[in-house]
Amino acid sequence: MKGGGGLVYAIVAALLTCALPLHGNPENDPKILQVTENYHPDHHYNNHLLGTAAELKFINFMQEYGKEYSTRAEYLHRLGIFAKNLIRAAEHQALDPTAVHGVTQFSDVSEDEFERMYMGVKGGGSAAAWENEAVATAEMEVGDLPESFDWRWRGAVTEVKMQGTCGSCWAFSTTGAIEGANFIATGKLLNLSEQQLVDCDHSCDAKEKTACDDGCSGGLMTNAYKYLINAGGIEEETSYPYTGKKGECKFRSEKVAVKVANFTTIPVNEDQIAAYLVHHGPLAVGLNAVFMQTYIGGVSCPLICGKKWLNHGVLLVGYGSRGFSILRLGYKPYWIIKNSWGKRWGENGYYHLCKGHGMCGMNTMVSAVMTQTS
Ligand SMILES: *[C@@H]1O[C@H](CO)[C@@H](O)[C@H](O)[C@H]1NC(C)=O
Ligand SMILES: *[C@@H]1O[C@H](CO)[C@@H](O)[C@H](O)[C@H]1NC(C)=O
Repeated sequence: MKGGGGLVYAIVAALLTCALPLHGNPENDPKILQVTENYHPDHHYNNHLLGTAAELKFINFMQEYGKEYSTRAEYLHRLGIFAKNLIRAAEHQALDPTAVHGVTQFSDVSEDEFERMYMGVKGGGSAAAWENEAVATAEMEVGDLPESFDWRWRGAVTEVKMQGTCGSCWAFSTTGAIEGANFIATGKLLNLSEQQLVDCDHSCDAKEKTACDDGCSGGLMTNAYKYLINAGGIEEETSYPYTGKKGECKFRSEKVAVKVANFTTIPVNEDQIAAYLVHHGPLAVGLNAVFMQTYIGGVSCPLICGKKWLNHGVLLVGYGSRGFSILRLGYKPYWIIKNSWGKRWGENGYYHLCKGHGMCGMNTMVSAVMTQTS
């Protein structure tokens, strides 16, 4: 740990294993089926929910998200989870009054399933003192920053993407940072290939040697930059498209679209993060995603959100000074965060998280990447 000026790196080296948006029939995924079988063998216990308001909401939810369950038992099982998630959304609403929580595409997935699939499989979520070998650069001037700022206004951010049932958030966070840096350097916005990272990147953290990038089972953005520096660059989405499954590495160096020169970690101070964001470009960020399962919109500013349990990789693209809130409590500064769960989730695919409180650990794993222009 370094004292002074907020240059403190107490970073969780556990892999970011992401949240997995489920769509279609969860029974198609054997892993999920196994989990559900172990958890609730007695589906008929949910019979008491039949004909209730919860079931009506569930039927609406199934229509809205095109959900189908192949057996009556699965229907009852998912209805039971849905009813529990209605309660959980209400709890989140009470803990996070400036955001709106409710029914989302994840409402038929239990908290256990959701966490099991995205929390630290390898590192177990334990915090480890970690110092990046790429030391953050000198402190930046923060006095002249605009009151609000958004890289989307300048065209540096691609459309919201969808990671699917693959713990590849770290790859989307990485491509987002490189897409932004490349746009700022060249004026060209390209969709870059997450699949190259999922298939080809096995690089490990320098300090935490077991934290290695591992396709759909998680990874770290700083590992991915190192892989790309060594590999010679990253292909475009069109030449190496996303499949959402780990496969054989098909990277061809002649197809490289952007070369990565270097990367840096950003101090935990949120004014510094804002300054890097404005002066450098969109930043890759790790955070604790626990409130994201039920998030619908508004500024999320939970009263309690673990800062050490980072499990999700996202992209910081901007900030606002006065967040809208339906409850009128939410006029507070917020970060604008691009997620990779499709456009139907959250604020058109984005998460608004309150700024200035190190909320959900969003200030502890922030990195910037530099592209090579030649
Ligand atoms: C990126 O891909 C999306 C989805 O295919 C597409 O809508 C968008 O236009 C692409 N953006 C760029 C800059 O090519
Ligand atoms: C990468 O950045 C670090 C500091 O951020 C610097 O010391 C190093 O020389 C850079 N490497 C290259 C190849 O530019």
